[in-house]
Amino acid sequence: MTDTKNTLAIGLMSGTSLDGVDACLVEISECCDVKIKETYSLDYGKDIQTKLFEMANNIGSIKDVCIMNFILGEIYANCTLELIKKAGIKTKDVEYIASHGQTIFHHPKSTDCSGIQANSTLQIGDISVISDKTGITTIGDFRTKDMSAGGQGAPLVPFADEIIFKRNKTRAIQNIGGIGNVTLLSPDVETFAFDTGAGNMMIDYCTKKFFHKPFDKDGELAFCGHVDDNWLSYLLDEPYYRQTPPKTTGRELFSSEYIEEKLKRAPDNPYDIIATVTALSAHSIFDAYKNFIFPHAIPEEIVLGGGGAYNKFLTTYLQKLFKDIPIKTHEDFGIPNKYKEAMAFAILGYFTMKKLPNNIPSCTGAKRPVIMGKVSYQ
Ligand SMILES: Nc1ncnc2c1ncn2[C@@H]1O[C@H](COP(=O)(O)OP(=O)(O)O)[C@@H](O)[C@H]1O
Ligand SMILES: [Mg+2]
Repeated sequence: MTDTKNTLAIGLMSGTSLDGVDACLVEISECCDVKIKETYSLDYGKDIQTKLFEMANNIGSIKDVCIMNFILGEIYANCTLELIKKAGIKTKDVEYIASHGQTIFHHPKSTDCSGIQANSTLQIGDISVISDKTGITTIGDFRTKDMSAGGQGAPLVPFADEIIFKRNKTRAIQNIGGIGNVTLLSPDVETFAFDTGAGNMMIDYCTKKFFHKPFDKDGELAFCGHVDDNWLSYLLDEPYYRQTPPKTTGRELFSSEYIEEKLKRAPDNPYDIIATVTALSAHSIFDAYKNFIFPHAIPEEIVLGGGGAYNKFLTTYLQKLFKDIPIKTHEDFGIPNKYKEAMAFAILGYFTMKKLPNNIPSCTGAKRPVIMGKVSYQ
């Protein structure tokens, strides 16, 4: 089934949308060709999602963090075992699992405590639990090593983007998860990447609040509304969008309070609200390219990934803004949009296991290349 020199590995991704965990079984060859063999997702469900949402919004106790660290470990292990079953393989065939974990706090700016300064980030979903329950060596906690080397601990996916897409063409790889992030790959320019702003986060929040649905499926609600230009300009007046990269963001900025504050000046029609926050996502991406990418290189194409790539209102809006630059999706390259980041973590883990550096300092701002990832061995 697998060439003996090839490695079967599983990547697990649970992003800022807090929707659940995506798992991807890949086969990696020695020269780093990566093939997706099978995929599987497990939704967190309402109770766990609510708990995580509270923790990410600074409500919740240390006890909650402690318990959820182990509960998520169980969920990630279950997801892995289902994936293995679906793929018709045995756990012993899988060399390692690489798990991103669930970010509950990400603070790339230095904080002072008693004269000691530190950046910090915390991903939970304990790797010992995953490893023990699956019987497979598990890697996790990637971001801390880059951060301790002076980086922002993000973005990490560009390392995988270089491997998947190479640098034979000037391309922008745009992920639209809870947060939007872009990687610029080019034969002429060093790879760089940054977070463009809220991807689906504000859309999801408003869809839950006004329509009691977890997200705006295919952009159907947005298509029923009109973009309110005044509110859009107000939303775009956010200092993060103007900040020069390297930069990363998360729920720490785009929190419930932040969105509630912005909603005080929103139009009355809830459909217009969804249309406008979706337009915001598109404009924040376009403005980021205009200000920080186009001065270095004009991409020949843009490749969308993440759940937001399924939002047709968003993708149509983006194509209007980018005019002649073709917008593709990962699916045009044989990679399911939803599983791209899980695939990326499987690739990062390959390098952890080989004890080779897997961060890109020009993307994260780290002082040096480092080997990210801690390992729980079997
Ligand atoms: N069919 C769809 N139509 C519109 N949006 C979608 C669709 N499927 C997923 N999404 C959006 O994608 C999000 C999940 O994307 P994902 O890439 O998993 O993000 P993250 O990595 O932040 O968890 C959902 O919360 C939702 O906003
Ligand atoms: Mg997700």
